[in-house]
Amino acid sequence: MKYLFSVICVALSLNLIAQTYNLPALKYGYADYEPFVDAQTMEIHHSKHHQAYVNNLNKAISGTSLEKSSLIDLMMFASFRSEVVRNNSGGHYNHSLFWEILTPKNKQTTPLKVEFENAIKKEFQHLDSLKAKINQAASARFGSGWAWLIVTPQKKLVVTSTANQDNPIMDVSKERGIPILGIDVWEHAYYLKYQNKRGDYLGAIWNLIDWGVVSEKYISALNDPLLAQIEKDNWPELKEFHRVMSQTFHPSETGNLSPLRNRSGELLAKSILLKNSVIPSPFSNPKITEALSKLEKECSKIHKLNVKKTKDEVLKKKIAEAHDTFHVVQGLCHD
Ligand SMILES: [Fe+2]
Repeated sequence: MKYLFSVICVALSLNLIAQTYNLPALKYGYADYEPFVDAQTMEIHHSKHHQAYVNNLNKAISGTSLEKSSLIDLMMFASFRSEVVRNNSGGHYNHSLFWEILTPKNKQTTPLKVEFENAIKKEFQHLDSLKAKINQAASARFGSGWAWLIVTPQKKLVVTSTANQDNPIMDVSKERGIPILGIDVWEHAYYLKYQNKRGDYLGAIWNLIDWGVVSEKYISALNDPLLAQIEKDNWPELKEFHRVMSQTFHPSETGNLSPLRNRSGELLAKSILLKNSVIPSPFSNPKITEALSKLEKECSKIHKLNVKKTKDEVLKKKIAEAHDTFHVVQGLCHD
């Protein structure tokens, strides 16, 4: 039994087992959130809307390579995903967080933690100012979406909002970070009780926010390696180079050199922009500067060889070398 458990853990860690997402159970009964959110809204929201995001996500990734991606990876690279994956991965993550931070008022026992309280004082002076800022973001969100309190890669608390089921982990979001509090402002979250009065819903929802849970989320976000990943992903020149490298190198692996033949100049241009870019401070070190120079030289060589119409085998070998160097750059970023 212990052996089987170990095998499953190793397989999961190596992404060998396909992901299937499940609807998380609520901590309390649907009626326990009354009077601030009515039981029928909670039931439909959880058992119909959230369940639909889960079902649609499972359906969208079934039989594809995305079955082996984590939920965070699906969202981190949302700009590369289909609309269905983007909307439903966000829908599942956002609602799971929402249920976690909602606790019926008479069941809230854990207080605001000191570290979190100090961070609120530093950024917003007072908890009431923070609530007002989140309500402002939620009210200003046109149509459906979410208002967020996030921890940024600089470890600051920031209030932001996103449309539809996007969230600040996604590379499509302007402000990025780890959400620790999210308010659902889709009409399905409030319309039965509050109709068109989003402001009344926003006034009431604070009675259900469990600041003890949000405090725990703040502390764990500060130590989450995802913050460094988001910071690296916010290095636009690295991302742009990666895009062209993957669109030229991967076809070359299967013998299709056409994308590289057509885009070697673009690859070189991106490598120059990357070499001259401002390296985000956590990744800035002599090793990475050296690797970026090497990468630029290799891309320059590839372009020259391509212009001279060198043989496919030579070009294939050179792009594989440049790809290795790029992985050195990415590896250094994880140090
Ligand atoms: Fe919702």
